[in-house]
Amino acid sequence: MKSASGLAYKSSGLADRRTYDSVAGEYYDERLHPTCADFRSASRIYLARLFDELKPTGRIADIGCGRSLVAEFQQQNLVLIDESSEMLRQNVPFLESRCINVEREPIGASEFDWIFAVLGDPYNTNGPND
Ligand SMILES: C[S@@+](CC[C@H](N)C(=O)[O-])C[C@H]1O[C@@H](n2cnc3c(N)ncnc32)[C@H](O)[C@@H]1O
Repeated sequence: MKSASGLAYKSSGLADRRTYDSVAGEYYDERLHPTCADFRSASRIYLARLFDELKPTGRIADIGCGRSLVAEFQQQNLVLIDESSEMLRQNVPFLESRCINVEREPIGASEFDWIFAVLGDPYNTNGPND
């Protein structure tokens, strides 16, 4: 979107990193967030094909996992990562999880064989100072 000054800005206000905690309870309500639900459906179709064709193995990370779609396809060796504890809470409790901001804290570059970021646009930035 464009502001009155003509500069692009994020209309969602996600510069406030706590935002997903406050929307976590309703984020997956398709009546309230139909566009998110549609993107989620499309992502599920894409992941189904990816898991069928490439059969990811090894240690897998789902960063910005929310209610993890990756967990629908594979739970073994999966690590769920999200900075929002309320979004992480949407998952079954027995999965390994980390509540961290991936732009500010390192996640092991050599730790994972696969890293997924499904609908990861909130941290599609130039870095921590963006
Ligand atoms: C649009 S939601 C998508 C959630 C989930 N992947 C899905 O497809 O339903 C983005 C998620 O990314 C998380 N997130 C945003 N910025 C992040 C960051 N810098 N580090 C970790 N998680 C982040 C949010 O808390 C939120 O759960």
